[in-house]
Amino acid sequence: RGAPLVDTHGRIHRDLRISLTDRCSLRCTYCMPEQGNEWLAKTSILTLDEIVRIAGIAAADGITTFRLTGGEPLLRTDIVEVVRRLSRITGPDGRPVEIAMTTNGIRLRELLPALADAGLSRLNISIDTLRRDRFRELTRRDRLDDVLDGIAAAAASDLRPVKLNAVAMRDVNVDEIVELVEFAIAHDAQMRFIEQMPLDAGHTWDRSRMVTQDEILEVLARRWTLTPVPGRGGAPAARWVLDGGPHTVGVIASVTAPFCGDCDRLRLTADGQLRNCLFSTTEYDLLPILRQTPSVIEAVDGDIDRMLRSCVRGKLPGHAINDPSFLQPARGMNAIGG
Ligand code: GTP
Ligand code: 5AD
Ligand code: SF4
Repeated sequence: RGAPLVDTHGRIHRDLRISLTDRCSLRCTYCMPEQGNEWLAKTSILTLDEIVRIAGIAAADGITTFRLTGGEPLLRTDIVEVVRRLSRITGPDGRPVEIAMTTNGIRLRELLPALADAGLSRLNISIDTLRRDRFRELTRRDRLDDVLDGIAAAAASDLRPVKLNAVAMRDVNVDEIVELVEFAIAHDAQMRFIEQMPLDAGHTWDRSRMVTQDEILEVLARRWTLTPVPGRGGAPAARWVLDGGPHTVGVIASVTAPFCGDCDRLRLTADGQLRNCLFSTTEYDLLPILRQTPSVIEAVDGDIDRMLRSCVRGKLPGHAINDPSFLQPARGMNAIGG
């Protein structure tokens, strides 16, 4: 225990994405069906103590960032306590971990002061369109004002950098690319455009209709001079400086420019399954370990550590989105956490 989580391709894992719930206050077409999904059983959802226990072991093994995701993480009623308990975890070198969150922004204004006080380090907020009618159609909910309010609250807070995410979609928001960047700049935030991945509930993803990184850059380059930012590390987003700075824009091109070679991520689902990739078809079940009786602390912690290592060992060199034999994972995006 305590050794770094290195996979068979030499990638050291430092980032654990923790999905806190599969539920969401929106129903984005690229993620969930209109009626929602069959939700995970309440009894299988990890408790606060279980999450903290897994996270503590992961931190001892070299995980330095916990990213809280969903569904929508702010729907979790104990969200502030989750952040507070996780932020007290330190790595083997005694350094505190980083607690980041990816949210749709709804209820953020109300919760942000408490989250910041609890130790939240960073926020990524999804905003695919700034137009009310489009937002309503895409998310099937009329909540644009709540999201904008959440973004404004984030911008006014001390948390930096604030990142804004938009999945680029033909016939939905390609014509808003420049506007979205200008909106981000006005909020001193970093806009990021995401190539849509085949993870939608309806399995309607169509490569030929996907908006690619090249297309996004072409639109941006008509408005700004783009200079690539070197040194991306394990980050999914490649970034460009706009007109000499200080603002930047990012593109997450999982399909046309995969970054799997530098992947440093593991995922934990709300029902206690470890995944070594967004697209993995195998999951590593922590629930029976966590809930075994009698529960001997040392034995359980050792088993969790071994499961983390099995998960990392089983990681493939990359996703197979571009292979003709590609199969979408059974679990939907809302239950993986992005
Ligand atoms: P930062 O650490 O702030 O860069 O966060 P992030 O971009 O990794 O996280 P976020 O939750 O904001 O995700 C933005 C987009 O990147 C979403 O579409 C995610 O599904 C996608 N994404 C995040 N991590 C990975 C990954 O490891 N692989 C792939 N293919 N996509 C990822
Ligand atoms: N492809 C790419 N990104 C997606 N997201 C949700 N579904 C998809 C998809 N099919 C994004 C959300 C959010 C992040 C967690 O993942 O927009 O910003
Ligand atoms: Fe890592 Fe899988 Fe994402 Fe590739 S697709 S970067 S291997 S999680």
